[in-house]
Amino acid sequence: MEEELIGIKNAAISFIFEADSAEELEEIKLQFLGRSGKLTLTMKEMGKLPKEKRPQIGVLANEVKTTIEEALANASTRFSAHKKAVIQKKIDVTNPGIKPSLGHLHLITQAIAEITTIFEHIGFKRVRYPEIEWDHYAFTALNFPENHPARDDWETFFIDQKADAKKGQVVLTPHTSSGQIREMERMAELSKKSGEPVNIRMLNIAKTYRRQSDVSHTAMFHQFETLVVGKDISIADLKGVLDYFVKSYFGENRKSRIRPYHFQFTEPSFETDVSCGVCDGKGCKLCKEGWLELGGAGMVHPNVLRNCGLDPKVYTGFASGWGVERVLMMKEGITIDDLRLLYSNKVEFLEQF
Ligand code: DAH
Repeated sequence: MEEELIGIKNAAISFIFEADSAEELEEIKLQFLGRSGKLTLTMKEMGKLPKEKRPQIGVLANEVKTTIEEALANASTRFSAHKKAVIQKKIDVTNPGIKPSLGHLHLITQAIAEITTIFEHIGFKRVRYPEIEWDHYAFTALNFPENHPARDDWETFFIDQKADAKKGQVVLTPHTSSGQIREMERMAELSKKSGEPVNIRMLNIAKTYRRQSDVSHTAMFHQFETLVVGKDISIADLKGVLDYFVKSYFGENRKSRIRPYHFQFTEPSFETDVSCGVCDGKGCKLCKEGWLELGGAGMVHPNVLRNCGLDPKVYTGFASGWGVERVLMMKEGITIDDLRLLYSNKVEFLEQF
């Protein structure tokens, strides 16, 4: 009986090997494993064997059965639809491949990287300070008198939390200027320890928050703030950095200008402008008078220096605070119909940039 079983196995395997359709495999299965198949009938004969032989032959018969079943299962994959497709693809080497879709950095992330590089070239250091801040850093230390209506210009989000006796209420930073206070306090402290004079070239790019949401405003947006403090820092330095930034970011042919303005934390204060790229400063539909507004700047107010532990008789400085979304749109000459789209996660929109 042993030889018979091994013969059945060999026959079945060679038939399976030769088969070239799923139907043929089905027939082989019936022929060997079906109710009146060769293996089934042989197994029925086992009853006639002497008792001692039965277990050994039983094990062999089962092995033969699983071997045939496995061979059938393996062979059937040759004829499945999936396999056919893979084989065809392998054969047609001229088929164009499927390109994996590549993403890219968000428009604002790209702008932040570019702005950072420009300022780093002239020695500015990027810093990060809290986005959830006390009123002290966002307003009071920046020379906003207690309860002064100037606070209303910054439509601030207040955190529902008990105010600190000294530092006041907790807010979402409405501007990056709070970073000026943090930086000057930190550097004044360092200078005290080291005996070295204070020398600040800060670039603070961060998320800022205001209670505003319409087609041209988002509740969260980005600002980039510069602060330079040292001995003998003057308006000429401010103008030089402004001009360098304008030419690096917008193009060599663009000009910059400053004009008087008012901020609590700078004296004198300025609005900064860049010449219009469309009419080259002559005046057109876009800019009207040849200039586009960049944002605020000024010489750090003596009170602000004092609030941070710096002596205004020794140190002077300038600061500026501009909007990332704003300069980006000015540079690209794009108008986004609804600025809120920038942060809506709509891939169709973001893919355009
Ligand atoms: N913090 C001001 C704002 O959010 C912008 C600003 C103006 C920043 C003048 C400055 C500055 O550093 O000197 O509108």
